Amino acid sequence: MKQVITLSIGGSLMVPGEPDVDYIKRVAALLRKHANKYKFAIVTGGGAAARLYARAMKKIVNNEFLADQAAIMSTWQNAYLILAVLHDRAYKTLPKTFDEAAQALETNDFVVMGGTLPGITTDSDAVLLAERVGSRRVVNVSNVDAIYTANPRKNKGARKISRMSVDALVAMAAENDTRKAGENFVFDMLACKLLARSGIEAHFVSGKNLKDLENAILGKRHGGTVVTPSSLA
Ligand code: UTP
Repeated sequence: MKQVITLSIGGSLMVPGEPDVDYIKRVAALLRKHANKYKFAIVTGGGAAARLYARAMKKIVNNEFLADQAAIMSTWQNAYLILAVLHDRAYKTLPKTFDEAAQALETNDFVVMGGTLPGITTDSDAVLLAERVGSRRVVNVSNVDAIYTANPRKNKGARKISRMSVDALVAMAAENDTRKAGENFVFDMLACKLLARSGIEAHFVSGKNLKDLENAILGKRHGGTVVTPSSLA
């Protein structure tokens, strides 16, 4: 039985302005290279489009649920792009539920999903998917190359953390949760808590550095951060 790696790809990475088709193809080629050993459960984020549509919907109806629904559709658009480049070995549509994704992985090497439920983010979707399909490793690929001791854009003394426990991650997310909007921590609070209960190892790497992404997939050393399960998990 092939191991399943769950991959969460940030929307901003795939769509920095307009969709970066070359980048999407390069990521797909990397995944194909390892599809003889692993299966991949992939979740894509919404990026800037998700924020734009959520904002527009709030102006129209001022309803957070509907704003989230609109944003979820941006995550689906990005998922469709990845699905298109992996189509021959992938489940042919975006599963609407985690159960459907798990079933689809039994007969396909790749399953691609976007968001699911209003009120959460694709960080949480990725951990839930990983739990459901039995992944032992989640790889979070974003514009941020690792988790730092403080926000590196604001704090010159911020140091990269190469390895930390999930308890430390939850504590960091809690600290950041109380800050103002726009100061989003690399992984949202719910996702951190789900990760803590799951006992799944998480790797945070820069999507720009495909060697780091490959090493994270293989469970080898990389330039990002490894978050290890707590002993209680
Ligand atoms: P993302 O997970 O893409 O948020 O979801 P993000 O932090 O902006 O990530 P990047 O920029 O892609 O890396 C975008 C929005 O979609 C809605 C939420 O409104 C979220 O902020 N969403 C997503 C949901 O409501 N439910 C989901 O399951 C997923």
